[in-house]
Amino acid sequence: MKYLFPFQSKICTRQRKEMMQQEPRLVWLTGLSGSGKTTLALRLEHYLFHRGFKVFLLDGDNVRHGLNQDLGFTAADRKENLRRVAEVAKLMLEAGMVVLCAFISPYEEERELVKQIVGPDRFTQIYVNASLEVCEQRDVKGLYQKARQGIIPNFTGISAPYEAPLAPDVEVCTGEESVEESLLKIIDVVEPLVSLP
Ligand code: PPS
Ligand code: MG
Repeated sequence: MKYLFPFQSKICTRQRKEMMQQEPRLVWLTGLSGSGKTTLALRLEHYLFHRGFKVFLLDGDNVRHGLNQDLGFTAADRKENLRRVAEVAKLMLEAGMVVLCAFISPYEEERELVKQIVGPDRFTQIYVNASLEVCEQRDVKGLYQKARQGIIPNFTGISAPYEAPLAPDVEVCTGEESVEESLLKIIDVVEPLVSLP
């Protein structure tokens, strides 16, 4: 039995929007390790910040270093990782922020759960698409090599699954496009969504 009494803030959504001068939104980037999620999210954050938006990036490598340091890479831990991130993002949306999230988020079901937690009307999904071959070739962190050697278990694309999104709002193909091209495709969709009418 939980004895909890959640209450509503006296400041309404409209007041926060007016104060923040933007539409709160969660922009979710999903893709394989090494596909370019962090690179694009950092560039998008930089762009939006300098356009005057109040924006903040949550990224798997960083969040797992602090808030989610107790979690690993089993399916259950990934689910809990993303559930907590969605709850944090929801609070940030309620504060009026534009939130960028870069997480592998390999299961369609969990991405759908994130969407339901924050509210479908405030959720934009970007599929950072690069083939396993391309990501493994890049192997920026040397993780694919370690996964192939069996040193890292449950590695996405090697020993754990990645389900491509069924209906992303934007898809960028980082094996073929330049960072600039992918970024512009994302900005074209995201900037109007976070701008006040
Ligand atoms: S998930 O699946 O959404 O919970 O993963 P995420 O929180 O985004 O964390 C991914 C980063 O963790 C590092 N790493 C691994 N990735 C995948 N599988 C395994 N087993 C693993 N172990 C460590 C890796 O640096 C990931 O960062 P990115 O930026 O995706 O390469
Ligand atoms: Mg990354």
